[in-house]
Amino acid sequence: MAFPVTRLRRLRMNATLRGMVSETRLSPEQFIYPMFVCPGEAVKKEISAMPGNFQWSADLLVEEVRAVKALGVGGVMLFGLPAKKDDGASGAYDGHGVVQEAVRALKREVPGILVATDVCLCEYTANGHCGLVRGEEILNDETLGLLARTALSQAQAGADVIAPSDMMDGRVGAIRKSLDENGFQNTPIMSYAVKYASGYYGPFREAADSAPAFGDRRSHQMDPANAREALREVALDIEEGADIVMVKPAGPYLDVIRMIRDRHPQPIAAYQVSGEYSSLVAAGNMGWLDLPRVMMESLVGIRRAGADVILTYFAKDAAAILQ
Ligand code: PBG
Ligand code: ZN
Repeated sequence: MAFPVTRLRRLRMNATLRGMVSETRLSPEQFIYPMFVCPGEAVKKEISAMPGNFQWSADLLVEEVRAVKALGVGGVMLFGLPAKKDDGASGAYDGHGVVQEAVRALKREVPGILVATDVCLCEYTANGHCGLVRGEEILNDETLGLLARTALSQAQAGADVIAPSDMMDGRVGAIRKSLDENGFQNTPIMSYAVKYASGYYGPFREAADSAPAFGDRRSHQMDPANAREALREVALDIEEGADIVMVKPAGPYLDVIRMIRDRHPQPIAAYQVSGEYSSLVAAGNMGWLDLPRVMMESLVGIRRAGADVILTYFAKDAAAILQ
């Protein structure tokens, strides 16, 4: 029955009604807050392209994660800035590396918050590439062993979730095997299954000091034009043992999240990346956008598209609003 019997505005007339029929909820326990760990003590260095985000030494990281947990945020994702970078990315799988030590401190000092660790070599290689390099080529199979070693060292330090972001073929299987052979059968893998070669990672490369010295990441990260290929990436990662599959970036790829949601029962994570964060913050600072409002709108859009978990630099601010 059409108008005038049907009036869709009836259920929008007050906040109580709107809340009752709201189709999508945001909950801080589904947020993961990405954080950057650096060596040293008492370091809290703001990332200029990501206002409100910092590089933290482990001691202050612990304090900050206590505050993050108090807001109800479900987890944090750690990225490392190693003391030194080299061709073999040794800082990535150093048992006493910057991330491994931060994980130990967090598991000891802040029980209850989930600690996920990013697995990639680009923060640790001197040339900023995600894998070993020969000439201009980023090597696939030769890199897998180092990724598996990195993941294992993180699990041994106590990481709750292992999150490979490198986009090498076969890395989920290699990591699953190495975890299983070493007694970490119960450590889940959240794979960056669908990671696009995106300009939205710009601010992150300052945050993690991981810009490639030459070339780019298009030989391993996906072409922004492709959606069907995303389904192949997801299917392969699930077959290799991924427990949660991630789409990254989130906002420009909501259709991809929805396609995966309609075809796979696995939990989906979406990563609202640095450039998505920084562009909203910048427009908010200019007075061009109402930041709290577009922040919540961007997050609800990601959930509505079908994501369960959201990695976002807004985790704290959004959780504070949701309290
Ligand atoms: C490492 C990695 C990147 C991001 C997460 N893991 C950068 C890249 O691939 O260049 C981006 C996160 C962000 O922009 O917030 N491979
Ligand atoms: Zn990388």
